[in-house]
Amino acid sequence: MKNRINQLLEEVNQLVATNQEELEALRIKYLSKKGLISELFNDFRNVANEEKREVGQLLNELKNSAQDKINEIKEAFNSSSSSENKTDLTRTADPLKLGTRHPLSLVKHEIIEIFSRIGFTIAEGPEIEDDWHVFGALNFPPEHPARDMQDTFFIEQNPDVLLRTHTSSVQSRVMAKQKPPIRMIFPGRVYRNEAISYRAHCFFHQVEGLYIDKDVSFADLKQALMYFAKEMFGENTDIRLRPSYFPFTEPSAEMDISCNICGGKGCPFCKHTGWVEILGCGMVDPNVLENCGIDSKVYSGYAFGMGVERITNLKYQVKDLRMFSENDVRFLEQFKSAY
Ligand code: PHE
Repeated sequence: MKNRINQLLEEVNQLVATNQEELEALRIKYLSKKGLISELFNDFRNVANEEKREVGQLLNELKNSAQDKINEIKEAFNSSSSSENKTDLTRTADPLKLGTRHPLSLVKHEIIEIFSRIGFTIAEGPEIEDDWHVFGALNFPPEHPARDMQDTFFIEQNPDVLLRTHTSSVQSRVMAKQKPPIRMIFPGRVYRNEAISYRAHCFFHQVEGLYIDKDVSFADLKQALMYFAKEMFGENTDIRLRPSYFPFTEPSAEMDISCNICGGKGCPFCKHTGWVEILGCGMVDPNVLENCGIDSKVYSGYAFGMGVERITNLKYQVKDLRMFSENDVRFLEQFKSAY
């Protein structure tokens, strides 16, 4: 019996099959109920008691080896047939379709780049805000109309949870946390409850600038903005500052640039004035500095805020604001750039 088992063991280890039928024939020959190995199990009854232990072990070894060998051959069939069917290694790869950056991202990056060249670093703040950071700290009186439901999106009837209406909220956050000197810009999305049309949307993008140090003057503000306008729109661009009002800056101004579409001669885009407004700015109101824990007797600063959509419209002459959020590939594909 032992000899027979050893002989079969040797046989089993050398099994080969070239196709599924041959493999099935081998399985039947060795492992089926009437197969050679089962026969040996039947004969096991007749083995002398003192040999049962040793022979039993051998028999089990034989059965496992046969099963393993057959599985191994089956496995080899499966993997070779699947690679034959599915993979053609000679086929050329599909070309990768590269996307393009969104025009607003392009312009945002360009603005960031221009200001980083004169030492501004970047910070961001939350879009879901509270009243203090968007209005209170920025010197808005309690009944100021900007707090009104018509402008501001409030969340779940709780007037202290709202979507920021301007990136000036990041000013209050940064000033409360950081000691001057502060020279930073804050890009981000803002929300206002406006009817959507070609010239207004319920969300848009701003880049805020803030510079706080000892002896910062209005001349510094004007110089930084002139540098920005020329870098962004070209050396021949002129700027003009018109007096304006914001609760958080005093004095305040709005800045126009000479219309870069008609070169200042007058066109429909600049409503024939030759000028286009691109940002609001001013000297940070001492109340705001104090609200944020900065000593207004020691420090002064300027701030400005610009609309990214407006700058993009000017740069690329996009006439309808809604294009920026419609995700029309024919529109987006036109903005190929190195940024
Ligand atoms: N936050 C103002 C706006 O949204 C812009 C601004 C920023 C004005 C900073 C002055 C200083 O219109």
